[in-house]
Amino acid sequence: MTGSNKKSTEQDALLMSHQDSADRVPVLWIHGYPLSSLLWELQISDLADIARQITPDLRGHGQTPSTAAPYSMEMLANDCVRLLDHLGFVGPVVIGGLSMGGYVALEICRRHPDRVAGLILASTRAGADSAEGKAGRDTAAAVATGTGVEAIVEGMLPKLLAPKTYDEQPDLVDFVREMMMETSVDGVVGALAAMRDRVDSTPGLPNLQIPTLVIHGAEDQLIPVGEAESMAAALPDAELVVVPGAGHLPNLEQPEVFGDAVRGFLEGFYGE
Ligand code: MLT
Repeated sequence: MTGSNKKSTEQDALLMSHQDSADRVPVLWIHGYPLSSLLWELQISDLADIARQITPDLRGHGQTPSTAAPYSMEMLANDCVRLLDHLGFVGPVVIGGLSMGGYVALEICRRHPDRVAGLILASTRAGADSAEGKAGRDTAAAVATGTGVEAIVEGMLPKLLAPKTYDEQPDLVDFVREMMMETSVDGVVGALAAMRDRVDSTPGLPNLQIPTLVIHGAEDQLIPVGEAESMAAALPDAELVVVPGAGHLPNLEQPEVFGDAVRGFLEGFYGE
């Protein structure tokens, strides 16, 4: 009787070998404007063995409903943190943002620094809009309101990718166009206001004691690579990767180079 009790206790105490994706580094990927979570579809498969990836659609983009414009960076950053709360992430995660997603990531650093374990700043910049840039946002908002999202998409698409991507990857161009067309007018106008009114993150860069990967297409026509170089130089713990043959969307145009850089960065989070 005693013997059989002992055996059953040993059986109860057995800890099974197992895999659990919760062990993987959590990464919240924030897309740019006017894109959606589809931006990250290659990373979702390529990095599945190392990262638990969360890919929201910002309000008014992809499948997330719009609210009335204008939006603010504070609103978009709080939306992201609310999603992390909802998913039960109490500790810090890696925040990866592309272009406008990078502006949101920097806002999360400002407002919720305890939620950020690491940063991936892709195709983005730290500075605020110039007066001319702000006026351009208002013009674009008037176009979106007056004629719809298609005019914005067709105006922006020729500048989004590296010149050779248009020749060599026509399916990718169509994929990006369809993704952009999912954005609502309120999403476009709301995001334009949030970008226009964002604060300059440059003065805070030297205080961001967070491991950071700055990654940028060498042929980015929207945000010159020099912006990434100066941002990386001002950050205390940043690595810069410039992706040859890529424009503003290096994760789609050169996914292997992008994936290798992110993988190397995320490996640093294991064993901490
Ligand atoms: C983006 O790709 O998110 C936007 O082009 C960024 C911007 O217009 O500043």
